[in-house]
Amino acid sequence: MKRILVLAVTLSILLTSFSVAFAQRVDVGIVLPTKDEPRWLQDVARFEDVIRETPYSVEVLFSQGSSAVERTNVETLIARGARVIIICAHDAAAAAIAVETAKAEGITVISYDRLITDTDALDYYVTFDSVSVGEAMGEYLAANAKGKGNPLYLYAGALTDNNAFLFFQGAWNVLQPLIADGTFVIKNSVQAQNYQDTLELTREQLAAIIGEVTTDWDFNVAKSKAEAHLTVAEEADKGEVFILAPNDGTARSIADVFAADVHVTNYYITGQDAEKASVQYIIDGQQSMTVFKDTRTLAADAMNMAIEILEGRQPQTDASYFNQVVDVPAKQTPVVIVTQDNVKSVLIDSGYYDASDFVGL
Ligand code: BGC
Repeated sequence: MKRILVLAVTLSILLTSFSVAFAQRVDVGIVLPTKDEPRWLQDVARFEDVIRETPYSVEVLFSQGSSAVERTNVETLIARGARVIIICAHDAAAAAIAVETAKAEGITVISYDRLITDTDALDYYVTFDSVSVGEAMGEYLAANAKGKGNPLYLYAGALTDNNAFLFFQGAWNVLQPLIADGTFVIKNSVQAQNYQDTLELTREQLAAIIGEVTTDWDFNVAKSKAEAHLTVAEEADKGEVFILAPNDGTARSIADVFAADVHVTNYYITGQDAEKASVQYIIDGQQSMTVFKDTRTLAADAMNMAIEILEGRQPQTDASYFNQVVDVPAKQTPVVIVTQDNVKSVLIDSGYYDASDFVGL
């Protein structure tokens, strides 16, 4: 029995190496965190557009929310001869090992959208200006607040995602002075209240707040947190409320919960990604804004950088990001606030989406 098992395992290892050896060689490997979130499907579609134009062979693999799958993906790409790997990590710190394995093989590694932390093996970072994403959310809430004592509910992304820190600090840059002067009153975070007089939060302070109000980038977590918050909130903590939601998926879940509460008379809620479902929510007045991150630019920047590297040219960068070990040279793209007022001009007239994808435009 044991012998048969050993034979079967050996055979499957042989078959795997055989198929890797005969699988098509790739020049550039792309690893994305999951197929299950609309944000990353936008990136795939935009990568497909740029891949069609390039003479190099490119392969896109998904990690499906698992650092183990992510590592296997990187190993597969290494085995297939990739010379550049573009990776958007599921877990910023856990991805360091995969990056180091690639680096040891002489492969250039580009972090895509999410910065990989805790390693010096990373070469470049292609990203949106994520602090400005958070600032745009904070500014939107600030612009709509009248008088003092406006109830503020804070939500954040996943602790394993460096972007969650950048988004929150960005929003805090705008909101903290307005919390300190009484314009906003935090209703759902003891940790944020603890630091309400501190503008520049340390990584530990941010982690304490994010840990308390995290959605984990998960719609269901967002929904149950919002429900729990509204269950304990007094009627006086409701009325017209202001909600910092970290992205579109979680914004829709949180918005649905607030909309269903009879004591919430009006709500302002943020988001980001310009997901189609949220664009429809904005048109219908169920989500107040989104931050549009043009994935056409990000995908093109990442591919162009990969091509420059393949052709022995030095990529141009315009920023740098500290990944807790080294400053990583970065190429950064600005973002645009979208509300009902400009949804058509920014997202339809620019050709990003078709008008026929929406009703009531
Ligand atoms: C991305 C966001 C996205 C979130 C959840 C972040 O790292 O920057 O665009 O909504 O992850 O996937």
